[in-house]
Amino acid sequence: MHPTLNIAVKAARRAGQIINRASLDIGQLKISTKQQNDFVTEVDKAAEAIIIDTLRETYPKHAILAEETGHSGQEDSEFQWIIDPLDGTTNFIHGFPQYAVSIAMAHKGVLTHAVVYDPSRNELFTASKGGGAFLNDKRIRVSKRAKLDEALLGTGFPYRVFDHVDAYLAIFKEMTKRTAGIRRPGAASLDLAYVASGRLDGFWEFGLSPWDMAAGALLISEAGGLVGDLAGESNYLVTGNIIGGTPKVFSQILQVIAPHRKGNLSA
Ligand code: IPD
Ligand code: CA
Ligand code: CA
Repeated sequence: MHPTLNIAVKAARRAGQIINRASLDIGQLKISTKQQNDFVTEVDKAAEAIIIDTLRETYPKHAILAEETGHSGQEDSEFQWIIDPLDGTTNFIHGFPQYAVSIAMAHKGVLTHAVVYDPSRNELFTASKGGGAFLNDKRIRVSKRAKLDEALLGTGFPYRVFDHVDAYLAIFKEMTKRTAGIRRPGAASLDLAYVASGRLDGFWEFGLSPWDMAAGALLISEAGGLVGDLAGESNYLVTGNIIGGTPKVFSQILQVIAPHRKGNLSA
């Protein structure tokens, strides 16, 4: 394993320990609301702190973009860590075991290392650019599914910002008729990891933040899948709108979404 990825794994496992410990007593959680339906607990903050401390021991100057503390480190560094300490906080608060730690590294804007760690199942998804994707050290690949009508898709419902809710529902209606099934597990990073490991054949969601997508996106491309924005280009970290899937399923999702691309849902 690349030494940088190794450090990221160490950070993710440390955060996972904090999350697992706290999951034993969710009644004790102190929950605050950042905005409507946007929750944060002391677990999110403690997990982020231990991730950043761990990365900083080895890489004191790298830039960091993390959900709870924003930008830190040397701003003009070529290296940037993109961190979601607890993706799926709403699930976590409810004791619904579908959440993850997501850590990615980008070098000059290109994703180079990725870790998505599900602490409740002890499932560690990792990838380094050009080195393939792994689940608990075993190589993973996207599924071989080629037809949308045989595909199981993941998605994320709009729940905080409702700008695209009508377009989303129209797409959802079409997808319900044209796929084998749709799931909304509730942790985008893990949904993307599930595409990488063939548990899902594709995924789409609008309005995400870079920390929800960065690690999962590299997992999919290293597992032989495709990731893109709504124009099929690679701007998803900027637009927040992402599609991922097996190569054939990816292009069929793009086709279903195409007629609904308008205004700020154009890419
Ligand atoms: C959320 C989860 C969810 C997705 C949201 C994200 P958080 O992350 O990934 O699946 O639908 O858009 O914000 O807030 O739990 O880290
Ligand atoms: Ca998130
Ligand atoms: Ca989070």
